[in-house]
Amino acid sequence: MSVWAVLVAAGRGERLGEDRPKAFVRLGDLPLLAEPLRRLDECPWVDSVVVVAPPEWEEPAILLAEEIGASKVSACVTGGETRTDSVRAGVDDVPDEAAVILVHDAARPLLPDDVVERLVAALGEGYDGAVPALPVADTIKRVDSDVIRETVPRDGLVTVQTPQAFVAPVLRAALARDGLRATDCATLVEAAGGRIKVVAGDERLLKVTTKADLERVAAWL
Ligand code: CTP
Ligand code: MG
Repeated sequence: MSVWAVLVAAGRGERLGEDRPKAFVRLGDLPLLAEPLRRLDECPWVDSVVVVAPPEWEEPAILLAEEIGASKVSACVTGGETRTDSVRAGVDDVPDEAAVILVHDAARPLLPDDVVERLVAALGEGYDGAVPALPVADTIKRVDSDVIRETVPRDGLVTVQTPQAFVAPVLRAALARDGLRATDCATLVEAAGGRIKVVAGDERLLKVTTKADLERVAAWL
């Protein structure tokens, strides 16, 4: 069962507010992208990687992959305006023989191998997809104009992370449907009627959105 990873790194990083895309902001001694790339490259469950870079950053992404010796990288393609457009660009470059496609945010640099192992195992059980998730710790309120409207029962609520793994033809079909706006791939596969298993996520898969997130991830390196 060949597993291909699509590493989406084509966002602008507006909330981080640096002078370059988030994937190229420094984390430790290298651009942030180096960390998730190295981890996917070294992950025993992953066979090949397609990197999706911001326009005009394809070359630096390829050079970085070479610099860190990421030998599983098959291609670096240009991302699109939205995350879904970028995922589509990456998936278009995955060959038909791929059985599983794992989509991962470069903005979640600290990817533990055992999360990937759980995702791949779930697909072996016959699910269309699998996503890592964490239980919700805080009390959740629905608000409207700064006023609480209701308390949302926490039971059955989780926050989901990436990587998200899918049976390749299922993800391709979900991406081919038009007009869906989604912040993750599971939303697209759900809308297409797919069955997706939730597996245990990991706190270290924190998404770097702000400067404080970047500092936290740097401290965990
Ligand atoms: N992403 C992408 N292409 C886009 C938008 C996002 O490949 N057009 C990727 C980002 O590079 C990131 C992941 O999707 O790895 C999650 O997106 P997010 O955290 O929102 O990153 P940015 O869009 O870069 O940040 P911001 O929204 O603050 O601009
Ligand atoms: Mg964004």
